Amino acid sequence: MRKNIVAGNWKMNLTLPEAKDLVEGIKNQLSNNTDGGTEVILIPPFPFLTEIKNQVVDSAISVGAQNCSMYKSGAYTGEVAANMLASVNTDYALVGHSERREYFNEINQVLAEKVNRLLENNIKVIYCCGESLEERKEDKHFNVVETQVELGLFHLSADEVKNVVVAYEPVWAIGTGETASPEQAQEMHAHIRRVLAAYYGDDVAEEISILYGGSVKPANAQELFQQTDIDGGLIGGASLKAEDFVSIINAF
Ligand code: 13P
Repeated sequence: MRKNIVAGNWKMNLTLPEAKDLVEGIKNQLSNNTDGGTEVILIPPFPFLTEIKNQVVDSAISVGAQNCSMYKSGAYTGEVAANMLASVNTDYALVGHSERREYFNEINQVLAEKVNRLLENNIKVIYCCGESLEERKEDKHFNVVETQVELGLFHLSADEVKNVVVAYEPVWAIGTGETASPEQAQEMHAHIRRVLAAYYGDDVAEEISILYGGSVKPANAQELFQQTDIDGGLIGGASLKAEDFVSIINAF
């Protein structure tokens, strides 16, 4: 069956010494009380990937990148290619975070290419989707998310899509302190799973983990994770404090 996953997206925060302290804190606190049933993924900025990967090799923690280039290699100054990520043993990469979509104009067709580059390099994808407040107010949220999932992923075969985790992050809940209610999140997660099932069949849809992101904290994690179609969280702010992050992991 599908995995429970808690991933910490550090975004553009922390220096290397701060990052290493954070990882040390997470490892110490996890070793006391985790049952190992939840996959934990740390998603640091690019320059820290190798160091953080080395720091967690003796644990079950995975490491992910926040982005990757749609190009394979060549004269693309400032870009980071999927095969570079693979060469430092990166396990996962985010694709299509709303901050990339909004501030860096990443459209679904570009994201589909990034998904391809990552899967070609055996890196699992965390594909992000989510609607803006305006889209929700106009009652377009189901359609918006459905289109994001279709255009970003539906060129994949059933075997390929099994290497994708979907993260639903409503833009209005990111970094705002405002969380989707467990019912709102469950409703969208169930919709995403139905969309996947209609295209790939029930068996494949049942295997794909769908994470919720947007102001997840120790205080609301349990209620969210209890929902049938919520298989974990993509955590921003609260992943920068070892105690909060571990308490979210232990909310399962
Ligand atoms: P916050 O948890 O800070 O709202 O961020 C969520 C997010 O964007 C994770 O990718």
